[in-house]
Amino acid sequence: MPHENGLDALARNVLRQNDRGRYTVPSGGLYPYQWNWDSAFAALGYSEFDLSRAWVEMETLFEGQWLNGMVPHIQFHCVNDGYFPGPDVWGCTSQVPSSGISQPPVAATVARNIWERDKDFGEPRLKRLFPKILAWHRWFMSWRLDSLGAACVVHPWEAGRDNAPDWDHSLARIDVTDVGHYERRDIQVVDPDMRPTKFDYDRYIWLVELGRKHGWDDGELLRTNPFRMADPTITFILLRANRDLVEIGNSLGESVSELEQWTRILEDGARSLWNPEIESYDSRDAHTQRWSGCISNASFLCWYAGIDGNGMVKQFTRLAETVPFVIPSHDPESDKFDRRRYWRGPVWPVVNALVGIGLEEASLFDEAEMVRDATARLIKAGGFSEYFDPCDGSPAGGREFTWTAAIWLDWASKQTGRKTWAR
Ligand code: DGY
Repeated sequence: MPHENGLDALARNVLRQNDRGRYTVPSGGLYPYQWNWDSAFAALGYSEFDLSRAWVEMETLFEGQWLNGMVPHIQFHCVNDGYFPGPDVWGCTSQVPSSGISQPPVAATVARNIWERDKDFGEPRLKRLFPKILAWHRWFMSWRLDSLGAACVVHPWEAGRDNAPDWDHSLARIDVTDVGHYERRDIQVVDPDMRPTKFDYDRYIWLVELGRKHGWDDGELLRTNPFRMADPTITFILLRANRDLVEIGNSLGESVSELEQWTRILEDGARSLWNPEIESYDSRDAHTQRWSGCISNASFLCWYAGIDGNGMVKQFTRLAETVPFVIPSHDPESDKFDRRRYWRGPVWPVVNALVGIGLEEASLFDEAEMVRDATARLIKAGGFSEYFDPCDGSPAGGREFTWTAAIWLDWASKQTGRKTWAR
């Protein structure tokens, strides 16, 4: 086990190794392009040792912004035949070839944190980014809210939690008999037992084909897409990001009244995700109003969003008594729990970082320290893996992963009690 300072050096190496000049890939073999929230976390990692590079990462992310404000979940800056589905499958007409969906909008929060490290240095860059981030949030508010103000995803990839059991019931309504032939590349790189099943993948591709058929027109897709889930990941992260954008706007002397109105809407939406039947924040099908009945690691993002988490402390304690490493991505007492399969059980250091920061901000220091300590132990023993088995701590998924290295530098290696993020 390397000494912690040795780990810092290794983490920086992971970032450098995955650096493609103006953007950073999540991991070389598995994800060879720029992914949206992975890239924002990379910027956070760079901000620990190279502020200028951190800003470049954020700027490249917004180079791919669509005219309607959407910032796509993948930007294909280069040609790589080893990845599926590539730009031809998405069929988008954007200037930078891209996917047609978005991802959890951590950019405002990350930009604020990078800026706080050196305000004079960051101010001109932040000024240029502000209207772009604002336009992205406006796009979410225009196209992704349900009737209660919760933010929805229109594809499991948009939530970042691809195969979470949250989506099972709603995905099962999709008839995939007309899905075209395709060949997966992910299971050539990673053990198929750690990846989504064919059942899931068929539906992911069916949804991409639907989007392409409708030219990725949000209005058309609102009418035709059977998959629309109010999601705690996007809702809590957008709410936090919106609060951070208000702070940025105030500091820059920009008008923030529209943002403040969005915050109020999202606060109601976030509270609407409380499912009293399972006493947890949950996902909800926006078409049928049916709850998913899932306690996931995203359920614990309430504190990060500044939303009441009293009921979630009990759930946290139960999970911590059930598995040695928190926070499993799905409830270990559920029959859908699968300890090594991607978002159906494994611990994700990057989500732990957000939850841990939220717990600390809510003065739940013991819980915050449990999350940080579990994450640090996983990384020290298993390296900068994509995710980890919550039962025995073994590493899983992709290795030398950018966002795991980034959150090590920014959060997991630091002591709880020292606020690492601006608030
Ligand atoms: C995506 O594109 O976000 C998926 O996670 C790929 O596996």
